[in-house]
Amino acid sequence: MLLSFVATQLRLLAENGKASGDMQEITTKRIYDIQSVVYDHTFGALVKRRVETAIRHMRIRPNDLVLDLGIGTGASLSYFPMDKGKIIGIDLSSGMLRMCKEKIAESGRTNINVFQANALELPFEDNTFDQVFISHVISVVSDPVQLVKEAQRVAKSGARILILNHFQSTNRLIALIEKWLCPLCTHLGWRTDLPLQDLIRRTGMEIDYRFKLDAIDLWETVAITNDKSALRAAVA
Ligand SMILES: C[S@@+](CC[C@H](N)C(=O)[O-])C[C@H]1O[C@@H](n2cnc3c(N)ncnc32)[C@H](O)[C@@H]1O
Repeated sequence: MLLSFVATQLRLLAENGKASGDMQEITTKRIYDIQSVVYDHTFGALVKRRVETAIRHMRIRPNDLVLDLGIGTGASLSYFPMDKGKIIGIDLSSGMLRMCKEKIAESGRTNINVFQANALELPFEDNTFDQVFISHVISVVSDPVQLVKEAQRVAKSGARILILNHFQSTNRLIALIEKWLCPLCTHLGWRTDLPLQDLIRRTGMEIDYRFKLDAIDLWETVAITNDKSALRAAVA
């Protein structure tokens, strides 16, 4: 049973390393469908403290409409206020969403709705959301720039976009090691060589502030105020 789980994961991870564009999203979905059964006890447990802190920085107001892009099994669920805001979560993986829906049902919460969608082609009108939360998703999609542009499009002007992710180190030596490790990590479903500067340049986003939870931390939280004119300038 365990051996077959590991063998299937390895086969899908190898496929993911070779896939591009839509094909990558198909294998990513399959990888997370399978990982959904262990996610909360592995990576999910590792990210909780970071997710909690990031959501506190959103300062959700009573009437805010919040989008959680790639909500997964719902690591964020218990940190969103019960009595403030309406939360919409989307994810590509039905397996991850099944776990998330179980948590919502158990908690009895009524201000959260989740459904299956692709973050690279969001099924929402422009200027819909007051806040967008993107936690550990940018490195697993085939086109990180497109994901950020979709977030900018569906967020209202002035909305808060909060990104939680690993970005390529600005330290040359560490960046070199990350680049060297990238092919391996691509096989594991995520990339380590994503430079934040490149995302900024190609999306026009301007960072309000960014922080790491610990002095030595692979992940960082980046807070952005959505500026539609910057997006138009970057697209032009
Ligand atoms: C590492 S998990 C992060 C889950 C959650 N946000 C967290 O912080 O625990 C990445 C999630 O992104 C989802 N995902 C990957 N590509 C996606 C896409 N194109 N659209 C929507 N969700 C996607 C995966 O299915 C998975 O649930």
